[in-house]
Amino acid sequence: MTSEWQNASGELVFRDDWPEEPTPVLTEWLPDNEEPARPTMVVATVDESGAPDSRIQLLTAWDDHGFYFHTDTRSRKVAQLAHEPRVSFTVHLPAEAHQITVQGVAELADAAELEWAFAHRSAYLQQLAWQNTVEFASLPRLDRVSAWDAFAVDHVEGFTAPPTWTGYLVRPSRLTFWVGSTSTASRRVEYRRAAATGELSRSSWAVTQLAG
Ligand SMILES: Cc1cc2nc3c(=O)[nH]c(=O)nc-3n(C[C@H](O)[C@H](O)[C@H](O)COP(=O)(O)O)c2cc1C
Repeated sequence: MTSEWQNASGELVFRDDWPEEPTPVLTEWLPDNEEPARPTMVVATVDESGAPDSRIQLLTAWDDHGFYFHTDTRSRKVAQLAHEPRVSFTVHLPAEAHQITVQGVAELADAAELEWAFAHRSAYLQQLAWQNTVEFASLPRLDRVSAWDAFAVDHVEGFTAPPTWTGYLVRPSRLTFWVGSTSTASRRVEYRRAAATGELSRSSWAVTQLAG
């Protein structure tokens, strides 16, 4: 199998042999978890009536168990995931002409992970986690600006996570890597297993090539 892409320095990179498990590709394609600029992804869920829903989220981190994103306990997606934990998300990495699509099952992240993730959010996003309410959103603009500034002044020492801070680990059962090319057709390489168990590096994946 051969694919090619330009890395951040503009060099053409070739991958001839796709590994038996997806972690080497994820390591190559995604920024390190400590990198402050996070990739965005569209997370799709299913609502209580069976209708699809989606929204952009930051991909907070990934590890051998799966992928992590974080949100507010009062958000629509939290109610939807309690009802139907199966989830799909797509990360678009336009600079490299890459796309990663994942299907899996979401579970609540553990307390240590939630703490790590909040500590790695920017000060703006930490404050947003406190002030992301309907009441705040309903204020006139000037009141929203002054309430925001007053809250920041009251918390110059920094923010701890509010009780509404939550997050998910998505254990994948299918990962699809899309590779664009300016010199040949785009293509995909898919990793699939029957159950969403995590343990990404365990090489029990079926690997197949697909048209782009
Ligand atoms: C670039 C971008 C990044 C976002 N990142 C997050 C995020 O990491 N967590 C989050 O809860 N909302 C994030 N949002 C807001 C969500 O898209 C969404 O409006 C919010 O989570 C409520 O979604 P829901 O009502 O479908 O649950 C982001 C929006 C944008 C445009």
